[in-house]
Amino acid sequence: MGEYPKAEVSEGLVSIIVPDLLKYLVGNRPEPAHAPVFYNPRMEVNRSLSISILNGYLSYVGRAGITVCEPLSGTGVRAVRYAKEVYGISRVIANDISERAYELIKLNADKNGLNDIIVAYRDDANNVLLRVAREGGCDVIDIDPFGSPQPFIENSLRAIKDQGLLCVTATDVGVLSGKYPLKCVRRYGSLPQRFPFRFEVGVRILIYAIARYALAMDYGVRPLVSFMDGHYYRVCALVIKDRSYAVETLKGLGYAYYRPSLLRRGLVQGFPIPNMANPNLAGPLWVGDLWNAEFINGYMLRNVRDYFSERARELAGMLGEESLSPNIPYALTTEVSRDVGRELPINDVISIIRRIGYQAYRSHFHPKGFRTDADLMRVRDLVKQLK
Ligand SMILES: C[S@@+](CC[C@H](N)C(=O)[O-])C[C@H]1O[C@@H](n2cnc3c(N)ncnc32)[C@H](O)[C@@H]1O
Repeated sequence: MGEYPKAEVSEGLVSIIVPDLLKYLVGNRPEPAHAPVFYNPRMEVNRSLSISILNGYLSYVGRAGITVCEPLSGTGVRAVRYAKEVYGISRVIANDISERAYELIKLNADKNGLNDIIVAYRDDANNVLLRVAREGGCDVIDIDPFGSPQPFIENSLRAIKDQGLLCVTATDVGVLSGKYPLKCVRRYGSLPQRFPFRFEVGVRILIYAIARYALAMDYGVRPLVSFMDGHYYRVCALVIKDRSYAVETLKGLGYAYYRPSLLRRGLVQGFPIPNMANPNLAGPLWVGDLWNAEFINGYMLRNVRDYFSERARELAGMLGEESLSPNIPYALTTEVSRDVGRELPINDVISIIRRIGYQAYRSHFHPKGFRTDADLMRVRDLVKQLK
């Protein structure tokens, strides 16, 4: 195995060998991308929530002995945690194109006594996905790349079983949320906008990108959990290999609109052409629900563990709340307190809205974000009266 400084770390219920990040600093901060094999401790949040999502999925669809394919594994930390922390998992295929990563995957599987569950490969992710497809597919496919998952989506849909769970991470949040609009058009075939709710536009474009490939294969998709955490998006969706469900999924495609003068925002169905003449549109994108509230509150949250980081547990709780909110893009407190001269705390805005009989929930997408079915001009007037 390649010689480079290594360290042993604990995450979840496992202990693994990773590159010693203290030897790969930029300034005085560790830079995982500079290490010979990628390991980012901050992604514990992503991994821990995925453990609760996979455990929730097992009971939600009534499956036991599931198989998982993680074709971009890095150190294998995710695969090793799945093998150890997901109930009744029978096989995890863990692959990486890098020789050093492949060596670490094998070492970490062995170190945790999981050689009977984890199968390691060193190959291109798309080759592995096609091989899995030929061999009958996996229940869960987890795509966790550097940057965009776009090159792996199509073959993931081939490799997944009917009613399987496709989990996708995207770290190109800037592209998806409108910083580089033409790149987003090229990569995802969708136009983002820098609306106040641009981060929600981004995750909806990512789901659209998955749905678009699924529809071409006559499959449907149903997001169970979607979230953003700092520099990445994560979407976990059921893939239903049924033509009538593809027709249903088509109804979940459309556009997002924003009218700044009226603070009005929303989602309109219509693909490929929006059912609305409005120049201020983002899309095409997913206009259906971002979450399945029943899944999050009844299945995922039950599998959030005390040993997860505080951030993972906090985010899970926020998603449970937010999944109950109306399917209307979030607004920012800055939008409704423009006339007050000071910014109202988010919890005050939420109380004002609830007092007049409308729904209001915090949004995890932004510290100042909330979701409501109230008319935001009315909310702005109420806030103004507090002056
Ligand atoms: C973000 S890291 C994976 C992190 C890992 N999933 C985790 O949770 O720690 C992405 C990995 O993909 C690997 N990779 C990049 N392109 C690949 C390809 N075409 N096929 C297989 N692996 C690839 C890289 O070597 C890198 O280890």
